[in-house]
Amino acid sequence: MAAKKGNADTITVTDNRTGQTYEFPISDGTIKATDLRTIKVSDDDFGLMTYDPAFMNTASCKSEITFIDGDVGILRYRGYPIEQLAEKSSFTEVCYLLIHGELPTKAQLAGWDEWIKAHVYVDESIRDVINGFRHDAHPMAVLQAAIGGLSTLYPESKEIGDKDQRMKDMVRLIAKTPTIGAWAFRRNLGRALLNPNPEQSYAENLLHMFFDESGMEYNFDPKIIRALDVLLILHADHEQNCSTSSVRAVGSSETDVFQSTSAGVAALYGPLHGGANEAVLKMLRRIGDKKNVPAFVKGVKNREELLMGFGHRVYKNYDPRAKIVHKIAHEVFEITGVNPLLEIAVELERIALEDEFFVARKLYPNVDFYSGLIYEALRLPAEMFTVLFAIGRMPGWLAQWNEMLDDKDQKIARPRQIYTGSGERNYVAMSKRK
Ligand SMILES: CC(C)(COP(=O)(O)OP(=O)(O)OC[C@H]1O[C@@H](n2cnc3c(N)ncnc32)[C@H](O)[C@@H]1OP(=O)(O)O)[C@@H](O)C(=O)NCCC(=O)NCCS
Repeated sequence: MAAKKGNADTITVTDNRTGQTYEFPISDGTIKATDLRTIKVSDDDFGLMTYDPAFMNTASCKSEITFIDGDVGILRYRGYPIEQLAEKSSFTEVCYLLIHGELPTKAQLAGWDEWIKAHVYVDESIRDVINGFRHDAHPMAVLQAAIGGLSTLYPESKEIGDKDQRMKDMVRLIAKTPTIGAWAFRRNLGRALLNPNPEQSYAENLLHMFFDESGMEYNFDPKIIRALDVLLILHADHEQNCSTSSVRAVGSSETDVFQSTSAGVAALYGPLHGGANEAVLKMLRRIGDKKNVPAFVKGVKNREELLMGFGHRVYKNYDPRAKIVHKIAHEVFEITGVNPLLEIAVELERIALEDEFFVARKLYPNVDFYSGLIYEALRLPAEMFTVLFAIGRMPGWLAQWNEMLDDKDQKIARPRQIYTGSGERNYVAMSKRK
C-alpha cells in the first residue's frame, strides 16, 4: 500500500513518551538539530538531543567549496572535477579557485602568483625557533609550532572582520608553508635552512628548498615538478574532514588564521588522517616481500591490524584521487626508477580488491596508498609525507576558514555531551580515603 503523502518537505515525529507529535521542516535533506529541542516530556526538560560521536551523520556547516559523492567516487572543487584540475590546472590556480570561488583570468592568476611570491620569505625568528628544536624533531610537530608561531609576527591578523586582512593572511600562509615545511626537513638533515627563490614556480621552489646544497642547485625534471604540483592539487581540499573541522572549530573562537590552521596541522599529523601515507610506507617495508602479502592480509582479516591506505569515511568506492596518484606513480618511476615497494603495494591492492572482507566493507585504496611511494622516489623520508599533505591542504583549510567567518549561521563551536559520571558527592579528606 502506498504511504499517505503529507506536507512535503517536513517530517512529523511522534514522541511515544508523551504521545505528542511535532512537525519540522526538511531543508537540503536535513532537519535542524536544535528543532529537536522543542521535544520535551515536561516544561523543565532540556529537550531532545542527537548523539553523534565522530559526527557520522551531522552536517556542521553549509559549504560551496568541495563536493564529494563517496558512493560513486566523485570529487569536485567549486564544481570542477578533480580529474580536469589535475590534468589542466596548477596548484596556485587551484588555491585561487578554492578561496575566490572562480577560476582566475590570465591577469588575475599572474597577479595572484606574484602576490604569493612576494610572501615566500619567512622571518628569521621562525628560523631560530626551528633551529632550536632537537635535530630529530618530527617535521609535522615543527610545522605545527612554526605555523602557530607566525601569529607572533602579524598581530594585525587578529582583525578577522577585515576581509582584506584575511586575504593577505591567506596568501601569507600559502606562500610561507612550503618554506617552513622545507626548513623542518632540513633541520632533520642537519643542513642549513635555505631561503626560497621567488623566481621559481611553487613546486619547483619547494624541491629546491628541500634538496639544494648551499652554492649548488639541482636540476629537476619538469615531469617531477609537475607530478609534485598535481599531488598538491589532489590534496588541496576534502570538505569537512578531521583537520578541516579542527580549523573551523578553532577559528570559530575568532582566533587568528595562523592558530586556526596550526590546529589543522595537528589533526593531520595523526595516522588515521594525513599520517596514513607514512604508515603505508612503514607497513610495506614490514611486509618486505610480495610473497608475504597473503599472510599480511590474513592478519588484517583477523583484526590484528589495519591495511593502511585503504578505507575512507566518505569514499565507499575507489578514491578518485588514488586513480590519479597511481598514474603519476608510474610516470615518476619512469624517471627515478621503480620503487621495489611498488610491487608489494600492487599485490596488496590486487588481493584486497578481490577479497570478500574488503569488498563487503567497500574498502578501496585511498589517496595515501600510492602517494608515499612517489614521495619516497623523490628521496623524501616518510616523516615528510604528511608535511607535503599539509602544504597541499593549506588552501582548503583557508577557504573553509574564510567561508565560516562569512557564514551568519555559525557561532563558536560547542558540542553537547551526555554526562555519564557520578552524581553530586562530598569531597573526602585525604586521611579518610581508602
Ligand atoms: C579511514 C578510516 C579511519 C575510516 O574509518 P571509518 O569510516 O570509521 O570506517 P570504519 O572503521 O567504520 O570501517 C568499517 C569497517 O571496515 C573495517 N576497516 C576500515 N578500514 C580498514 C582498513 N584500513 N583495514 C582493515 N579494515 C578496515 C573496519 O574494521 C570496519 O569493519 P567492521 O564493520 O566489521 O567492524 C579507516 O578506513 C582507516 O583506519 N583506514 C586506514 C587509515 C587510512 O588509510 N587513513 C587515510 C584516510 S585518507
